[in-house]
Amino acid sequence: MAGKIAFGVDVGGSGIKGAPVNLDSGQLTEDRFKILTPQPATPEAVVGVIAELLDHFDLSPEVPIGVSFPSPIVGGVVTWIANLDQSWVGVNLAEAVAAGTGRQTTVVNDADAAGYAEVAFGAAKDHPGTVAVMTLGTGIGVALITGGKLWPNAELGHIQIDGHDAEKWAAASAKDREGLTYAKWARRLQRYFSEIDRLLWPDLIVVGGGVSRKHDKFLPLLSLRPKIVPAALRNTAGIVGAATLAWQGAQAGG
Ligand code: BGC
Repeated sequence: MAGKIAFGVDVGGSGIKGAPVNLDSGQLTEDRFKILTPQPATPEAVVGVIAELLDHFDLSPEVPIGVSFPSPIVGGVVTWIANLDQSWVGVNLAEAVAAGTGRQTTVVNDADAAGYAEVAFGAAKDHPGTVAVMTLGTGIGVALITGGKLWPNAELGHIQIDGHDAEKWAAASAKDREGLTYAKWARRLQRYFSEIDRLLWPDLIVVGGGVSRKHDKFLPLLSLRPKIVPAALRNTAGIVGAATLAWQGAQAGG
């Protein structure tokens, strides 16, 4: 396969998805392939699924991999985790995936991956100011970008609101679990995003995650100071962002 190609993997609470990405266009070169997240989602099981995903595609050995993962990641290591198996804490994800696949591997927090993708190809492209890319899914992920540069591992889905961990109460999973209407859920999002605005004063909020497909059902119900828009890449942002970083890592030889 010719051109600037990297393989992006998005590890989530329910599915692990992967696809090759063309880094000139930010487009997937083939349909993404999904395997259900193994239960329990231990490091061995998840790395096994990533290797299986790769087997589904015909990629030359030098194509690097980028993995988007739902935890803070410092120096390749999972430092803490809310929504996958606790045995991940302390594991060097970059080394584990490189060993399990034989490929050069770059790893990144999933919201940060979405942030990179939206800056490179999406709703935050060329934005000169401060942007918060917020993903609403099993948890709430936050990427903070200012002047095109990203502050990694901003775990602001876990701020406290009325004594609740915000994501347990306002993530898309809370809407599903509690059977909330969009109107009821939007009232929680209003509280959450207002709090984020009070703390960070972003110029733009970009809302991602699978539910952003249905943005017309809840974004118009919010009344916020900053502009708020749906993500452009929707549910491929993790794959595209991780692949973007993998490509940059491969160029840097790192
Ligand atoms: C995790 C974050 C992640 C977010 C979205 C949170 O529970 O702590 O690291 O970005 O979920 O998956």
